[in-house]
Amino acid sequence: MMFNMFQIYNKSSYSLEDIEDNYIDSIITDPPYGISYQNNYWDKDLPDKEIWENSLKKIKPGGFGLIFSSVRLMHRLMVDLEDSGFLIKDVLFWAYLNGMPKSRNVGLLIDSELNIESEKVGEYKYVQGYKKNGADNYKVEKKHKLSPSSELGKKYDGAGLGLKPAYEPIILIQKPLEKGLNVAQNIIKYGTGALNFEETRLPYDDNEGKVGHNPHEKGRVPANILRTDKFEDGYDKFFVVPKVRQSKEYFNFHPTVKPVELMQHLVKLTTFDEQIVLDPFMGSGSTGLACIELKRKFIGYELDVDYFTIAKKRLEDRNKVQTLF
Ligand SMILES: C[S@@+](CC[C@H](N)C(=O)[O-])C[C@H]1O[C@@H](n2cnc3c(N)ncnc32)[C@H](O)[C@@H]1O
Repeated sequence: MMFNMFQIYNKSSYSLEDIEDNYIDSIITDPPYGISYQNNYWDKDLPDKEIWENSLKKIKPGGFGLIFSSVRLMHRLMVDLEDSGFLIKDVLFWAYLNGMPKSRNVGLLIDSELNIESEKVGEYKYVQGYKKNGADNYKVEKKHKLSPSSELGKKYDGAGLGLKPAYEPIILIQKPLEKGLNVAQNIIKYGTGALNFEETRLPYDDNEGKVGHNPHEKGRVPANILRTDKFEDGYDKFFVVPKVRQSKEYFNFHPTVKPVELMQHLVKLTTFDEQIVLDPFMGSGSTGLACIELKRKFIGYELDVDYFTIAKKRLEDRNKVQTLF
C-alpha cells in the first residue's frame, strides 16, 4: 500500500479491506457512542464488533489503540474490544468543567403524573443548536420556569436523575505481542509494543522545587487523567487541553469535533516517528490533522459524505503547509 501523508475513504470502515494485515501501528478513534447524542442519526448504536475484530487483524502485534467512549456504554465497548482479542490496558479520563447536566426536576414530573398544574414562577431562555450553523439550526425560545404545586412534588422539588458529566473516558487497548516474543523482540520485529513517553512527558513548573531523587529532564511520565483546565489544587501535572470552540473553523459543522491538540497527545503517546495511525470513524478528520503535524501517516474512514468533505478539506489545507516525508 503506497501513500503520502494520508489516505482517506468515504465508505464504511467495517471490513477494512483496503489495508494489509499487520500494517497499522496505532488505532485512534472517536466512534459513535450509541447514545443518540443530539439526535445524530449515526450515534444510535455502538459500532458492531466486526470493526474491532478486523482492526485487530490490521494492527501490528503489540500496537496500541485509544478509543473514546461514553460513560454509560464504555463497559459494552470494552467487552467488545476484549472479545475481539485486544487487551484492556487502561482508561484515560478527559476531565472538564463545562458539562451540561441533562437531568429533569422530578417534582415537576410528579405534578404532571398527578395531573396537577405546576406553578409558573418566571421565564427562561431555551437555546437549541449552534449560532454558526445558520438560522435553521439555531433556536431560542422563551419558556415558563415552573415550580411543583402538589405536596409530593414539593417534597421532590429539584431532585434529579443524572449527575453533571465531567469526564470522557478513552480506553487504552493493545494487540497482544507476537506469541513467543518479549517486548524488546516484538519492537525489533514490528516497532510496536511501547508507549512513547519521551514525546509526551509533562514538564516541571519553573518554580517547582526538587522533584524526586533523579528527575527526568523532560518532566513526568504522562498521567491517565487529562484535563480541559488547569486546577489550582496543588498537584497540577496533567495534560491540559480545552474543548473545541464551535466557531473556530467556519466550515466545520461536525457536532462532535475533538481538539487537534488532544489528538496530538494521543498520537504521540501511541506512536513513534513516521508510524501509521488508523481512524475508522474519522468524522471531520481531527486525528488526521494531528498525524500530519507530527509526521505520522494517517488512514481514515468516514461514511457520511458531508463530514468526509470537511475532513478532506481540513487535511488538504493542513498538508499544504507541511513538508512531505
Ligand atoms: C464521534 S464522530 C467522530 C468525530 C471526530 N472525532 C471529529 O473530530 O470530527 C463518529 C463518526 O463516525 C462516522 N461513522 C459511523 N459509522 C461509520 C462507519 N461504519 N464507517 C465509517 N464512519 C462511520 C459518523 O458519521 C461520525 O462522523
